[in-house]
Amino acid sequence: MPLVTSEKMLQDARKSGYAVGAFNIENMEMVKAIVAGAEELNSPVILQVSESTSKYGSMETYVAMVAVEAKKAKIPVALHLDHGTSFEIAAAAINAGFTAVMIDGSKLSYEDNMELTKKVVELAKTKDVVVEGELGKVGGKEGDVITAEDTNTDPAEAKAFVESTGVDSLAVAIGTSHGFYVGTPVLDKERISELKETVDVPLVMHGASGLSEEDIRDCAARGIAKINFATELRVAYTDAMRKLLVENPSMYDPKKPGKAGMDAVKEIVKSRILMCGSENKAN
Ligand code: G3H
Ligand code: ZN
Repeated sequence: MPLVTSEKMLQDARKSGYAVGAFNIENMEMVKAIVAGAEELNSPVILQVSESTSKYGSMETYVAMVAVEAKKAKIPVALHLDHGTSFEIAAAAINAGFTAVMIDGSKLSYEDNMELTKKVVELAKTKDVVVEGELGKVGGKEGDVITAEDTNTDPAEAKAFVESTGVDSLAVAIGTSHGFYVGTPVLDKERISELKETVDVPLVMHGASGLSEEDIRDCAARGIAKINFATELRVAYTDAMRKLLVENPSMYDPKKPGKAGMDAVKEIVKSRILMCGSENKAN
């Protein structure tokens, strides 16, 4: 089917206590692997492109690849800009045909974040594109959150932010971090429950690579409707290619390592969909 926005799939997930997996793509192999994995499990799926990946290919390249694979599939597929940091980059994604964008103003002051997010929402609404905002500090690449200060999302602030900006979903900080975890992550699951009670839009959790199955299931059950996976897909893809090439140093057909990478990504995607609980929720 044609690309859809993530609105209905996330609203359904929010209502029923499961989450939709959002998987970062880099190339055609990852696009095909993610759509195939989701299709095998009859799950809705979000494919997302980071700002740096959009520069590696181009916005239009990713729209074209994902639209072709979505059209062949029977499940709903959304294409989302991940961590857009400026109005210009969000506008470029919207104009290229993305069906969802994230505007990440979490490094800005609350007021500046709100102003930037509002501006993106205004443009997105004219094109039927949905917007994810972010409030709070997710660890890892987003910032060095090594502090005793509570940098998790405050429910009252989040409610006001959502009402004033008109975002369709909100990325929240609850103790997760981008990239693999060095120690054991300490998640504030009670905070998720409070946010679910207070905030009227689907909640998004970033930094899911390396979380336990139990954590992913608990977070979804408590009210996280979209869960982002990136690092572990990149690692699975690259490790599978590397292994094949090291074992077969004279191999020169790029399709062979490409296929190995694809198979590895598809397996990870299927296992994460099952953890999120979105199998058989494509409708
Ligand atoms: O925005 C993307 C994600 O939050 C992915 O985080 O690389 O830790 O899986 P991850
Ligand atoms: Zn993220």
